[in-house]
Amino acid sequence: MATDKKLQDWVTKTAELCQPDKVCWCDGSQEEYDRLMGEMVKSGMAVKLNEGKRPNSYYFRSNPGDVARVEQSTFICSKRKEDAGPTNNWCEPEEMKAKLTKFYTGCMKGRTMYVIPFSMGPLGSKISYIGVQITDSPYVVCNMKIMTRMGKKVLDVLGDGAFVPCLHSVGAPLKPGEKDSFWPCDPSNKFIVHVPEERMIWSYGSGYGGNALLGKKCFALRIASAMARDEGWLAEHMLIMGVTNPKGEKKYFAAAFPSACGKTNLAMLIPTIPGWKVECVGDDIAWMKFGPDGRLYAINPEYGFFGVAPGTSMESNKNAMLSATKNAIFTNTGLSPDGDVWWEGMGGETPQKLTSWLGEEWTPGCGKVASHANARFTAPAGQCPAIDKAWEDPKGVPISAFFFGGRRGSVVPLVIESFDWQHGTFLGSTASSEMTAAAAGKVGELRRDPMAMLPFCGYHMGDYFSHWLKLGKKADPKKLPRIFYVNWFRKSKEGRFLWPGYGENSRILKWAFERLEGTASAVETPIGRLPAADAIDVAGLGVSKESMEELLRVDTEAWKAEVESIRGHFAKFGDRLPQGLNEELNSLKERLSKAPVRA
Ligand code: OXD
Ligand code: MN
Repeated sequence: MATDKKLQDWVTKTAELCQPDKVCWCDGSQEEYDRLMGEMVKSGMAVKLNEGKRPNSYYFRSNPGDVARVEQSTFICSKRKEDAGPTNNWCEPEEMKAKLTKFYTGCMKGRTMYVIPFSMGPLGSKISYIGVQITDSPYVVCNMKIMTRMGKKVLDVLGDGAFVPCLHSVGAPLKPGEKDSFWPCDPSNKFIVHVPEERMIWSYGSGYGGNALLGKKCFALRIASAMARDEGWLAEHMLIMGVTNPKGEKKYFAAAFPSACGKTNLAMLIPTIPGWKVECVGDDIAWMKFGPDGRLYAINPEYGFFGVAPGTSMESNKNAMLSATKNAIFTNTGLSPDGDVWWEGMGGETPQKLTSWLGEEWTPGCGKVASHANARFTAPAGQCPAIDKAWEDPKGVPISAFFFGGRRGSVVPLVIESFDWQHGTFLGSTASSEMTAAAAGKVGELRRDPMAMLPFCGYHMGDYFSHWLKLGKKADPKKLPRIFYVNWFRKSKEGRFLWPGYGENSRILKWAFERLEGTASAVETPIGRLPAADAIDVAGLGVSKESMEELLRVDTEAWKAEVESIRGHFAKFGDRLPQGLNEELNSLKERLSKAPVRA
C-alpha cells in the first residue's frame, strides 16, 4: 500500500468510479506473476506453453477487433487545440474527461483493479520518471512486469514524489455470474487519451500493446515528449545501440524508424563484417539528457521488448529469438499442437497443423495466415544475448550519432550524412515510410513520419521541430550527435530490394563510425554527404557495383519532386514551422537547381 496521500487518494477515487470487486496493489514479485498467469490459464485467457520447449511462457489470443494501436482513437487533450497541432486528434480536456467518466463509471464491475507502480528507466536515475498504472487487465499487469521495473521497489523510491497517473480499463464490466471473455475489451469504444499539461493518461476499451501498456507509447513518448520540451531534454522513438570496432573502441548510436521498419532487428544486429560488435541498450525508446560534460546521455526507459513476431527468425534476428526462449508472452501468433508458438517468417520447418491467432485450425496452404501481422512477443531485455553492459547504467550512455530512416522503394539513397545539426533535424523532419501493420491503417501507403514520432508526439509537431533546433543551438556543436539518414529498402527498376539489410547494415554503421573518427570519406551532394565510391566496406557482400551505384545515386529530378512533397508536408505546420527548416528546404532546392541533370 502506498504511503503517499496523493497516490492513495487517486486510487480510492478511481475505485469509487470504476467499482471493481477488489483492489490489488502489485508488488512486482514472481509469485504475483505466476499467480495471475495461473488464474488466466484457468479462465481460458492464457495458454501455458510447453515447459520443455519454452519455459515459463504464455500464449494469448486477442479479440480480432483489438489487434493494434488505434491512432484514430488517440487524443492529445491540451487546453488549446492549436497546442496539439495538426497531426494529433484533439478534444477539450474537461469535455473528454466528462465523456470518459461516463465510460469509466462501473467499468470494472466483477473485476479486480490492479495498481502498478512502475519506473521508466533504472530506479533512481536522474533521467528516469515514475508512473502508476491502474488497470483491470491481469494480462497488462504481467506484460508491465516484463516491460517496466515495477512493484514495491518503485513505491519505496517514489516516496511522496511526482508520478504520472495512468488509468486503463478494458471496458468490459461483468454481471454477477457472467463468464468472462477470453479477451475482454470494448472494440467500438476505444479511447487513448493524454492530458499533457496535467501529465496524465486515460485509456479505455483496448487491452492490446501500446493502447494498454501505458508506460510505453503513452507515457514514454507522448507525455514524456511534452515533459522533455518543458525541461530541455529529448524523449524519442529511438533504439539505442553500442557499436565496437575491431580496435575495441565503442560508440553509442540511437536510431528512429517508423513502426515495423526493422528497428528491433537493427538494435540487435549481428555484424557481418569481421571484428565489429553491436550491443543493444534498447529497441524502441530513448530518453536523453545532457550530462555535465555537455554530451547527450541516453537511457532505455523500458525493461523488455515488445517485438513484432512475424518475420523474426534466427536469420533475421537471432538475438530477439533467443531473448524470447523463456519467461516470455506471445500474443496473436499461431499455436502448435505441442504447445509452442509459430509465425510466418519464423524459419525452420513449417508445422503441418496449428491453431491460428483466430483460434481456427490452420494448415500450410490453407490460404490464411497463422499469426496476425502485428502479433507480438514480450520478452525481458536482460535475456537478450547482445544486451549492452551499460543498459541499466543510471547515467545513461553517451550518444555519438542519430540515424533516421524509413521504408522507401525509390528516391532516398542508402545513407546520407547531414551537413550539421539543423540539416540533420531537417532530414529527420522529412522522414517518410511506406506504411506497415503496426498501426491500423492502409498498408503500403506513403506517409511522412517526422523523426518516427508522428503517432507519438504529445504536442504540436512544429514546436517539436523548434525544440530540436533550440537544443542544438544551446549545445556545443562538437559534442552533439552527428545525424545520418538511412534507407535499407531501395528497390531496382524490377522491384527487387537492392540492399540485403539485416547484419549487412553493419557496413553502414561502420561508415558512420569512421566518419565520426574522420577516417572514412564522403562526397558532398545537394542532399547531404554520401559515401565516396569505395568508402563502404563491401568485402564479401555480393552486391554488384551497379547496385551499389544505384543505392547511392542522387536522382536530381526525383529530389526536385521530393522538395515539393516536403513543402506540402511542412505547410501543415503553418507558422509553427521553425524558420530553420524552411531555410533548409530552400537551400536544398537551390543546391538541386545547380546540380547536373543526371547526377
Ligand atoms: C511499436 C510501434 O509498437 O512503434 O513499437 O508501433
Ligand atoms: Mn515503436
